[in-house]
Amino acid sequence: KNSSESLLSVNRMINIAHRGASGHAPEHTIKAYELGEKMGADYIEIDLQMTKDGELVAMHDADIDRTTDKTGFVHSFTLKELKEMDAGSWFNLESPGAAQEAYKGLKIPTLQEVFEHFGSDANYYIEIKQPDESPGMTAALIRILKEYQLIPAEREGAIVIQSFSKESLLEIHQQEPDLPLIQLLSYKQPAQITERELSELREYATGIGVNYLYLNESFIKDVREADLLLHAYTVNEKREMNALINWGVTGIFTNYPDRLSEVLGK
Ligand code: G3P
Ligand code: CA
Repeated sequence: KNSSESLLSVNRMINIAHRGASGHAPEHTIKAYELGEKMGADYIEIDLQMTKDGELVAMHDADIDRTTDKTGFVHSFTLKELKEMDAGSWFNLESPGAAQEAYKGLKIPTLQEVFEHFGSDANYYIEIKQPDESPGMTAALIRILKEYQLIPAEREGAIVIQSFSKESLLEIHQQEPDLPLIQLLSYKQPAQITERELSELREYATGIGVNYLYLNESFIKDVREADLLLHAYTVNEKREMNALINWGVTGIFTNYPDRLSEVLGK
């Protein structure tokens, strides 16, 4: 496998730092993203939520209960209010083995702050969450990507947009047809896919993202033969990483990019 090839080449296996190196540091903080880069991840994964005043922030859940010291929905707080919250201490309590003093009091970053910090050399794998709750999300995302001159992309694959919402992806595809899109699919049992579904996906998506628990060799073969990329989430054990790579996935989301780098011999 040739690392000089485009990140989205079918010959590459990409390492996606899921919510940053979130096994080692509080998810969706600059620290977690920094660690992801340091551990050899190709991409920083960012989940997006929208604040009451229309700002995009990096946050997985629709509410702040799990990852801050306060409670409530992200969309019911202004950015200023969210910035007062401690988005790091919860991790020290949850993961005492990885706890660090420096994680206490970490702040929720905005998408702009992430771009400011990591610049145009980093690669971003951005998820639009809860688009139905916050209608302006795709427009805000495109505006910010343009503001930071991340689109049109300098390098192929520098920006990837993912969502479970086909509607959001189609909206983006219509406005920015060159942006690579990953359709996230939610299977609750061993994954299967029809020719028709594959050709519908190919009309707008570069690939799909699937929970690894439901992946199987024949599904992976079908997807790859349809010329779609296949990224598996969220894989934290080396044994499982190896099995999926042997089956032909083209990317893995992991909370432990260091482990995946070791598996890939980097
Ligand atoms: O985006 C891929 C994977 O992260 C989807 O699951 O819930 O961790 O965003 P989630
Ligand atoms: Ca995600």
